[in-house]
Amino acid sequence: MLEIRNLHVRFYNRDREAVSGLSLTIGDGEILGLVGESGSGKTVTAMSIAGLLPRKQCDYSGDILLDGQDLLHADRSLLRKLHGREIGVVFQEPMSAMDPLMKVGEQVGEVLRIHTGLSRAERREKALRAMEAVELRDVEKVYDSYPHELSGGMLQRAMIAAAIVIEPSLLLLDEPTTALDVTIQAQILELLKKLNGELGISMLFISHNLNVVRKLCARVAVMQRGVLVETGITDEVFRRPQHPYTRHLIEAIPTREKRNET
Ligand SMILES: Nc1ncnc2c1ncn2[C@@H]1O[C@H](COP(=O)(O)OP(=O)(O)O)[C@@H](O)[C@H]1O
Ligand SMILES: [Mg+2]
Repeated sequence: MLEIRNLHVRFYNRDREAVSGLSLTIGDGEILGLVGESGSGKTVTAMSIAGLLPRKQCDYSGDILLDGQDLLHADRSLLRKLHGREIGVVFQEPMSAMDPLMKVGEQVGEVLRIHTGLSRAERREKALRAMEAVELRDVEKVYDSYPHELSGGMLQRAMIAAAIVIEPSLLLLDEPTTALDVTIQAQILELLKKLNGELGISMLFISHNLNVVRKLCARVAVMQRGVLVETGITDEVFRRPQHPYTRHLIEAIPTREKRNET
């Protein structure tokens, strides 16, 4: 279980806190949606969990506990260990997260090279299995491809394969479908559902799109300007939003999309 208690982050070059007293939990096997407009503190929250907060550029306080182990104040070597093994991350732009000069399959297996004693052949085998799990076709061929040879949707699948290859307990997904067209986006959402169901991986799914969150997440948290303004069962939040900002986000969903949902 991931537990965030009273997280505060303030960058030195900003007046306002990026995250202001956030408390959240993600239960084992749960997918929690985190929504809010641009600049509301979603990515900073994910970075804090992922150990990617630029610590020298900000003040931070509170607790982030993964199965009771503190992440926010942990030293670098523990962080490196936990983040490879227990937490996988997937970001919005697969192209920028990939090394253009390294074969896709090797990148999928990279975390195994760092964190396990597996042989090259064993790593390749595991990478191929992970690529099958994310429903990439022709995995042998994709393994030997370079990032520029794949479509955006395939690359995002490969990024997800890289994030799950070591079977982490938590996956952080920061706007993972925003750069993709609607059809591919829907496929990726189905894939995440499947991975959650089959592997029981907990997920924090970040999006500025409440409608996307509704398709995937049983529970949702809404952030505005660094503050958690509402949290609850996604369907209930949709039906009876308590906070004006949540209502505003729901009203901002195009009607066509809303109709598709009901
Ligand atoms: N490295 C940084 N230095 C200074 N300010 C930052 C940095 N990263 C994020 N911020 C600020 O923190 C706030 C929250 O940003 P972010 O978490 O990226 O928002 P979101 O992901 O919800 O769009 C914004 O005001 C942003 O400008
Ligand atoms: Mg962001």
